[in-house]
This record gives sequence, C-alpha cells and structure tokens, in this order.
Amino acid sequence: MSKPSILVARAIFPEVLQSLAQKFEVESNQADEVWSAQELTRRMQGKVGALTTGSERIDAALLQANPQLKIVANMAVGYNNFDVPAMTAAGVLASNTPDVLTETTADFGFALLMATARRITESEHYLRADLWKKWSYDMFAGAEVHGSTIGIIGMGRIGQGIARRAAHGFGMNVIYHNRSRLSAELEAQCKATYVGKQELLQTADHVMLVVPYSAESHHTIGAAELAQMKPTATLVNIARGGIVDDAALAKALAAGQIAAAGLDVFEGEPAVHPDLLKVPNVVLTPHIASSTVKTRLAMAQLAADNLVAYLTQGQALTPLNRLPSAAE
Ligand code: DGY
Repeated sequence: MSKPSILVARAIFPEVLQSLAQKFEVESNQADEVWSAQELTRRMQGKVGALTTGSERIDAALLQANPQLKIVANMAVGYNNFDVPAMTAAGVLASNTPDVLTETTADFGFALLMATARRITESEHYLRADLWKKWSYDMFAGAEVHGSTIGIIGMGRIGQGIARRAAHGFGMNVIYHNRSRLSAELEAQCKATYVGKQELLQTADHVMLVVPYSAESHHTIGAAELAQMKPTATLVNIARGGIVDDAALAKALAAGQIAAAGLDVFEGEPAVHPDLLKVPNVVLTPHIASSTVKTRLAMAQLAADNLVAYLTQGQALTPLNRLPSAAE
C-alpha cells in the first residue's frame, strides 16, 4: 500500500525528516526556499498533511485548491499564519507547538530585557569601533533591572515564565495586563498584580510584550501608548511583528520619548523598518526567541508527532481546532 503524501514546507532537522519518511511520502524543502503563496498551493497538491513554520500562510484560497488536505502542523506556538476558522470550515486540523518552547522563550525575553536596559549591544558596538579610550562615570549608564517594575502585556505561559524570573530571580515588582485575569493561585506563583493597560504603561520601568497577534492586538503599542510610558522606560517585543507600530516606535526612540527598546519580531519581517536601523537605543534580533538547538528540535518533533498522530490515529497531540467527527 502506498504511503500518504505530506509536505514539509521549510528546512527542518534531518532526523525529524527521516522519521517522517518512515510513515509518509515526504516532499521536503531542505534548500529552505521561501515559496510564494502560489508555489505553496502548488506544492500542497496531493498532500494530506503539511508541516509549516510561521512563514507559510494557510488561508481559504489554499484550502479550496487542496480539498484533500487533512492537517497542517505549525512548528511554532504562534499561529497567526493560519486562518483557523477557514481551516475548520474546510475540515482541516490545525496544530501548533505549545509548552516545549515556554521556558526557552522566557529566557530570551529576559536576555533581551537585560541587553536593552543595560545597553549591551550599543556598548559593544562602541568598543568594536575602537571608540573606548577611557572610563567615565556615566558611560552607557542604563536602567536598573533588579528591584524595578516590569509590566507584562499578555500573561499566557511565556508571560508567566517571564514573571517568575522577574519576581523570584530579580526581585522585581510584577504587574500584568491580559484579556482575562489569572487565577489567584497563578498570580501568587508569579507574584503578579493585575492592572489596566494604562496603569501598566504609566507605571512600568520595563514593558514586555508577549501577547498573541490578532486583529485586536494589532498595534497594541502605538504612538498614543508610547506617549504614556516613562521617558526612562524600556519596551521589549518577543511576541509578533505588528503588535508594535514600528514606525511610531522608531520616532519615540529617536526623540527620547522612551529610553530603549528590544525587538525580536518586526512588522513585515524579515524586513525591518529602516528608521529602527538608524537609532542606537534599540537591540534588534532576527526572531530567535525560541532558538536553542534543544527547543527547536522539540518544536520540530512535536509538529511531526502531530502529523503522525492525526494521520494514523485521527487525534493530534496539540490541536488548535476541533473538527466534527464523521459520526457527529
Ligand atoms: C513561535 O513559536 O511562535 C515562535 O515565534 C517561532 O516562530
């Protein structure tokens, strides 16, 4: 009997690809070309499953052209590249990779906060440019991290991981804003206090964005919000491009309206707003918050496991939608 066909839309770990090849006929993309929507739709022809990353858009047009498709497994916890209602309507299961990246991503959020508040990349550029000629009392004087107030917008698993690091590791005062309030037990574990968005922006020394991207969270931080922040504050975005209005942020950084920003994600990435490249007080990284070898392998493996579990047993491990079974 011939094996079902699947598409692995981007390069992944060869060992994960090999394990998939034991169960499926696999078309892969180890050259890691970024396909157009048209090319992705074409490659999807005849495939019952696909493994994607956050760069491949799964929408109604692709689904309509591929009625044989049964599951798309995203190798990411974020899934704003999926039109989940359209997938549900088309009877296609959507899955993501929660949990396996939580702590690694929270580590990175903290690393980016430290680098931003303590001006690490800015000072390294200065040193590499051979500009360091003497010690001076205020050289790259940054903002205090320990004992300061962190405001976390988006208090899911990663937000909670950052809160635990902040409260227990750095003695920070943790305030948060989220669509819904955490249980009293989780608030106690994170030593976190729920506040309104305006209070958070006005009070926090460091604002950390960990909110999923959606139409509602688009430009959660724009000119109006930046104007409410302290001039000494830092802003860190490890969530998604589009949560911050990057043009407004570049203006605020250039004007000294806030002290500094750390960005791992960008509107229209991999393109970066040109004005962000001109300001020194921003730390820029290329969407690597979950990128440790162990975590990226765990993400690829979980995405692959979702494909295997759904296509062989009809049950994904971490589904995002619920499809009516044939019996319902
Ligand atoms: C995620 O898992 O959503 C990360 O941003 C990697 O894409």
